[in-house]
Amino acid sequence: MTVSDALRGRTVAVLGGTGPQGCGLARRFAAAGLDVVLGSRDAARAESTAAGLPGRVRGAANADAAAAGDIVVVAVPWDGHAELLTELAPALAGKVVVDCVNPLGFDRQGAYALAVAEGSAAQQAAAILTGSTVVGAFHHVSAVLLEDPDLDTVDTDVLVLGDDRAATDLVQDLAAVIPGVRGVYGGRLRNAHQVEAFTANLISVNRRYKAHAGLRVTDV
Ligand SMILES: NC(=O)c1ccc[n+]([C@@H]2O[C@H](COP(=O)([O-])OP(=O)(O)OC[C@H]3O[C@@H](n4cnc5c(N)ncnc54)[C@H](OP(=O)(O)O)[C@@H]3O)[C@@H](O)[C@H]2O)c1
Repeated sequence: MTVSDALRGRTVAVLGGTGPQGCGLARRFAAAGLDVVLGSRDAARAESTAAGLPGRVRGAANADAAAAGDIVVVAVPWDGHAELLTELAPALAGKVVVDCVNPLGFDRQGAYALAVAEGSAAQQAAAILTGSTVVGAFHHVSAVLLEDPDLDTVDTDVLVLGDDRAATDLVQDLAAVIPGVRGVYGGRLRNAHQVEAFTANLISVNRRYKAHAGLRVTDV
């Protein structure tokens, strides 16, 4: 899949880009020819992670990555989400912020969705980042598949949620740069909770069937 006109020339930053999800997304965005900046709490760690990826990927402290990105993906654990976004809110103003964070708990029965005061991680991001346009996406894509350099395509749709049509269109384009992936509009941000929570169901599927399950929306 080619990079759309709307996406061409944009830099994608990934906060928490040293983890499997951020690193996997970065690998795929860079493979499509996009400029990518990996963010970390430790710039040196981001630089060394970036050095291991092909394409135009560099590493930086999260604040510098946030400043450099036109589109900024948030790929940190739920535990650090509010704190990091509060700190970076000024740097993220005016940007499209893509939240893929799933607030989940784990116990002996497996994964389960946590209650979030704002409704969802994406809504929490929007409440903190009042100067940014927040979009929810990439919740269900397996980091294992994204990170696998031998896998040319990733077989899944990505649900894209948000309240700004131009921003959700842009993030659908971003999803579509990954071969095999289609970005599908999935509703307003107020419906992000179910999408984030559904990840717990997918984790149950994965455990039962020893899979890295994705999601396909039919008839669109
Ligand atoms: N793994 C998946 O398959 C998957 C799929 C879909 C969505 N997600 C979501 O994507 C997010 C990242 O997943 P992951 O598996 O990559 O997570 P992770 O490895 O636990 O964390 C990602 C990175 O976040 C940084 N980090 C850790 N604790 C932090 C804190 N308290 N504050 C700020 N930064 C912190 C770390 O980077 P530094 O130490 O370098 O700063 C870490 O490498 C999660 O919210 C998850 O729900 C994951």
